[in-house]
Amino acid sequence: MKVRIDPQRCQGHGRCYDLAPDLFGEDDEGYGQVIGDGTVPQDQEHAARLAVSNCPERAIEIL
Ligand code: F3S
Repeated sequence: MKVRIDPQRCQGHGRCYDLAPDLFGEDDEGYGQVIGDGTVPQDQEHAARLAVSNCPERAIEIL
């Protein structure tokens, strides 16, 4: 499993990096960024899905 953030959709709500800090970080302006290449370790899959379902802009995709 991999995650990506659509930069066109992200408005910087920050739920992703609050809920799944091992998978997402923020850039200088508070927009979400995936950490590394976005690969989700098995023990982080629940956190990844939580981030996807909590992003108000539906900016996070699971690949
Ligand atoms: Fe952006 Fe959604 Fe995270 S708007 S900062 S991807 S919660």
